[in-house]
Amino acid sequence: MTAQELRTMYVNFFKERGHQEIASASLLPENDPTVLFTTAGMHPLVPYLLGEKHPAGKRLTDVQKCVRTEDIDEVGDDTHCTFFEMLGNWSLGDYFKKESISMSFEFLTKYLNIPVERLAVTVFEGDELVPADEEAIEIWKSFGLSEEQIYRYGREDNWWGPAGQIGPCGPDTEIFYDMGKPKCGPNCGPSCHCGKYVEIWNNVFMQFNKQADGSFTELAQKNVDTGMGLERVLTIFNGKTNVYDTELFIPVMTKLEEILEREGKSLSTREKRIICEHMRTTTFILGDPMKISPSNTEQGYILRRLIRRIIRLFKKADINSNYLCELVEILIDQYSPVYPELSENREFILEQLEKEYNLFSKTLDDGLKKANRYLANVKQGETLSGDLAFKLYDTYGFPIEFTAELALERGVQVDMNGFKKKFEEHQEKSRQGAAGKFAGGLADNNEQTARLHTATHLLNGALRKVLGDEVSQRGSNITSERLRFDFSFGRKVTKEELEQVEAIVNEAIQNSIDVILEEMSPEQAYAEGAIGVFSGKYGEIVKVYTIPGYSKEICGGPHAKNTGELVSFKIKKEEASSAGVRRIKAVIGE
Ligand code: ALA
Repeated sequence: MTAQELRTMYVNFFKERGHQEIASASLLPENDPTVLFTTAGMHPLVPYLLGEKHPAGKRLTDVQKCVRTEDIDEVGDDTHCTFFEMLGNWSLGDYFKKESISMSFEFLTKYLNIPVERLAVTVFEGDELVPADEEAIEIWKSFGLSEEQIYRYGREDNWWGPAGQIGPCGPDTEIFYDMGKPKCGPNCGPSCHCGKYVEIWNNVFMQFNKQADGSFTELAQKNVDTGMGLERVLTIFNGKTNVYDTELFIPVMTKLEEILEREGKSLSTREKRIICEHMRTTTFILGDPMKISPSNTEQGYILRRLIRRIIRLFKKADINSNYLCELVEILIDQYSPVYPELSENREFILEQLEKEYNLFSKTLDDGLKKANRYLANVKQGETLSGDLAFKLYDTYGFPIEFTAELALERGVQVDMNGFKKKFEEHQEKSRQGAAGKFAGGLADNNEQTARLHTATHLLNGALRKVLGDEVSQRGSNITSERLRFDFSFGRKVTKEELEQVEAIVNEAIQNSIDVILEEMSPEQAYAEGAIGVFSGKYGEIVKVYTIPGYSKEICGGPHAKNTGELVSFKIKKEEASSAGVRRIKAVIGE
């Protein structure tokens, strides 16, 4: 089955069942500053899920282009993508659970011919707000699913939304395809990441509206919001094990391999996949009618990060020509029949890629020359000083990991501790210069506190990414040695989860992101997706600190100017603080 056959089959199936087809919206959510990109098909439909009348009626279907960056570190595995197409169908206060599950089951088993025994589903186990979804369980059973194929999970797995900080959400039932591998252990199930179960469809029963204060109100209408991943279904239907073996990635992968062969260079499978995947997302962001270009804020920043990651991988393979345009042309040609905006914006896409490539390569090339010069003076087995490594970083913008790599190739060491020391000294100086800015705020107003405070924001953001939005701050305490952060969460955080949280915070630190301070009304802040409690004590205008891609919080400050000032982040302890509240102690700059 081709991708186009799947799109058509899906949309027609729902059209035959009374749904109107609607067009894919822009990747940039209109009138919704709470999220950077359209992350799901429901996103453009938020007003209608809240009760507004949709001109096309109560049953809708479409194929929506989506960008999600929370899984960026998974990219390169078999299934995770930052860009994907979501096949969706909606009931706006029309049908509910029975019809929704019944249509999904029919499509999966009769149209995609998936045997019932290859399906596994999850349902909401219930909590104080919503009881266990016995209805969904009974419906699934009535279609022949056995008890072993039905899994009950809590809020972190079986509650979807809102897309941003506020808006429609509800319990869901998720449908997984069993890849047929053996279970990885006794607790293996759909929520396990071993690769046995791949999520293909999610049916959300949207009955709630999450408010800015974290509470939920019941919606006037009961909606259904579903989303099916085109890439994954295509992979499974065609008997492939990963999305890169489908027609969606074969052309760009073939081109990349051709380039590598031409250059006589090589990259690992994972690196090749990352290039192709990020290239496709880049194509769609640049090709969007909203004309986003690389920058240091918001969507432009995500775009810049994707492009620069591609360039770094090419440079790592010692390929110094710009092949971005050659790759993007393949994707534009391939996707334009379905997304004509790509060919309409071809010139813009090519021009922006050329510009960003030149900008970033110049930075890297200048640094590279200097680095080679410095390293040439270091004998094999000896060490490049921290001072010089820092000079490369500070004056030439040359990433420290590049210096380390070059050094390794020459059998030379880099004094990393010396580098860190210089780095901190430098940050200290620039902070002293900026200290006057940080008049109000915390009791202990020194630089270390500001840095730990920024680390606390990053930690809060990372915990929410890894554990879900139910995480909310219950307390924070900072001494000059460490931060302590209390947050709502119902169980012990696993070692793996803590590692993921640490990795996200360290990634933010390594990306040396400027911490942005803005002042606005609390309403505006919440509308823009800020978290944090506004109790009125700050007055009419609040300060909002943003670390693009990681955190946005209403907060009195002060903060570090740039995440790079934190140097590194380490969790020292995770423990219970009180019922339903966990406590983390962490340090920075080690
Ligand atoms: N909005 C739901 C999701 O993205 C369908 O999973």
